[in-house]
Amino acid sequence: MKIDVLTLFPEMFTPLNDSILGKAQEKNLLEINVINIRDFSADKHKKCDDYPFGGGAGMVMMAQPICAAFDSIQKSDDTLCIYMSPKGKKLNQNLVKELSSRNHLVLLCGHYEGVDQRALDLCVDMEVSIGDYVLTGGEIPAMALIDAVSRYVPEVLGSAESAQDESFSENLLEYPQYTRPQNFRGKEVPEVLVSGNHGKIDQWRREQKIIVTMQNRPDLLEKD
Ligand code: ADE
Repeated sequence: MKIDVLTLFPEMFTPLNDSILGKAQEKNLLEINVINIRDFSADKHKKCDDYPFGGGAGMVMMAQPICAAFDSIQKSDDTLCIYMSPKGKKLNQNLVKELSSRNHLVLLCGHYEGVDQRALDLCVDMEVSIGDYVLTGGEIPAMALIDAVSRYVPEVLGSAESAQDESFSENLLEYPQYTRPQNFRGKEVPEVLVSGNHGKIDQWRREQKIIVTMQNRPDLLEKD
């Protein structure tokens, strides 16, 4: 999968070069290109923002550098251009799966008071939000989307980390996990996990998923 990111702050994306996503890029399973919108400004001072028409606080990102950056990207029928925005469709595991079926995503990260609407009308297919709160820019949301989507790219996760047995599969959250030592600060690992009885362990884990979901996210149990 190829992901192009358009941003005024390319240095924010260095965490994607570590850990699982770093390895996925080394193995060419994933190609992430971070593109600096400022490089496409036609202004002699490389200006990318200006005051809002109609007045009001803050600055607005200009359409010209954004559209020129989009134009520089080679697209196909399978390319989806997304603007990261608190006004967008809320990201959940189903949308993550849907996006992972594309082989090319382009993510636009906004800053300041927003982006000139004409850039969105001309260049963007959909807007995506990572939750009902406002961040200072779209970079962290873009990284969250890239991380979540990459887990579905074949071979990015090893079998040990496989995307099968995890939170949100079947609309249930993950069961609690334990590792050695068996007693830590007086707290014992649940007896069943050291029983060696795999039928009982599976049953305990299924029950725990329901208990954790009822405690933390009862809304997930109400859905279809
Ligand atoms: N930019 C600022 N806040 C955001 C959010 N919650 N989701 C996506 N992009 C954003």
